[in-house]
Amino acid sequence: MAETTDKTPIERKKIVLSGIQPTGTITLGNYLGAVSNWGKMQQDYDCIFFIADLHALTVRREPAEFRQACLGFFAQLLACGIDPAKSLLYFQSHVPEHAELQWILNCNTYVGEASRMTQYKDKSAKHADNINMGLMDYPVLMAADILLFRSDLVPVGIDQKQHLELTRDIAVRFNNRYGDTFTVPEPYIPRTGEKICSLQDPTAKMSKSDPDANATVSVIEDEATIVRKFKRAVTDSGNEIVARADKPGITNLLTIYAAITGKTVAEAEKEFAGSGYGTFKVAVGEAVAAAFAPIRADYARYLADKAYMAEVAKDCAQKASAFGRRTLDKVKRKVGLVSFK
Ligand code: TYM
Repeated sequence: MAETTDKTPIERKKIVLSGIQPTGTITLGNYLGAVSNWGKMQQDYDCIFFIADLHALTVRREPAEFRQACLGFFAQLLACGIDPAKSLLYFQSHVPEHAELQWILNCNTYVGEASRMTQYKDKSAKHADNINMGLMDYPVLMAADILLFRSDLVPVGIDQKQHLELTRDIAVRFNNRYGDTFTVPEPYIPRTGEKICSLQDPTAKMSKSDPDANATVSVIEDEATIVRKFKRAVTDSGNEIVARADKPGITNLLTIYAAITGKTVAEAEKEFAGSGYGTFKVAVGEAVAAAFAPIRADYARYLADKAYMAEVAKDCAQKASAFGRRTLDKVKRKVGLVSFK
């Protein structure tokens, strides 16, 4: 996706858009639920990926640490195979059209809708001392991210489905009121990997912000650490290696193994039939470590080349801004704002 003029591929192929919050590092959950699909989709779609740095401000951050995490995420996404020759990759805060569209969408979203979001309720409970406006407005910024580029498909994990539904509601409502303006996007949720669970509590989502380091695995961790974390993964009673509701630990590990190797869960069950939990956990850890080894190496290379990251980020932000501006201008006209163009 090199250009954004009227006759470029961005207008012909379907548009894929997704973002990730730069907190901690990219986890196995982020990778299997979203980022690995981003890489694959670049072949067939025009893709727009960004670091959702504005979203991350809804929680208090130490500025210097946050800036480093943002750069680290950029390097990690490049290392995960996001190719700037094919896709746009930039920082959300570098494209002001995201926040500008958000305001107009805010005026077309009800407080009741926003306050019903599960993530808002969860985060409000978790950060009771900092229930800021941004926390509630978070999904409206997400809707702006998506609608700004008339995105067709949004590759995400299942935890973002509710936000996608709200985005669709906002788009339909706006189109009904002002005439056809926005594309109504579809979520693209993988069948295997839509929700990877914590290695320490397999009933909870693996989360970047989990304070227990043993609960998550990062794409830039070394092999020994990854294997050790899998050896320590919480499993269930019994000794059968099968995916079943009463075996959340083993089910999670089978899901991870299947998603990382490209096998089905049934094939994974067959492969480990008769093995002990110990052998199985090491095999899953080794498969994950093998998949992440090249990412870790490329990450170090990209992180050391800040000039390259800056060039990519600036160039992509400029293109995204020009493309998004066209939708934004249309939206402004539709709602009756004066334009002297
Ligand atoms: P974030 O940063 O929490 O997560 C990034 C992506 O990873 C997926 N994911 C998971 N998938 C499977 N298992 C898990 N344990 C797991 N944890 C996270 C998420 O579903 C997500 O796809 N609000 C978004 C970022 C965002 C965005 C957007 C996404 C901002 N604007 C526009 C799509 C479109 C978020 O916080 O993702």
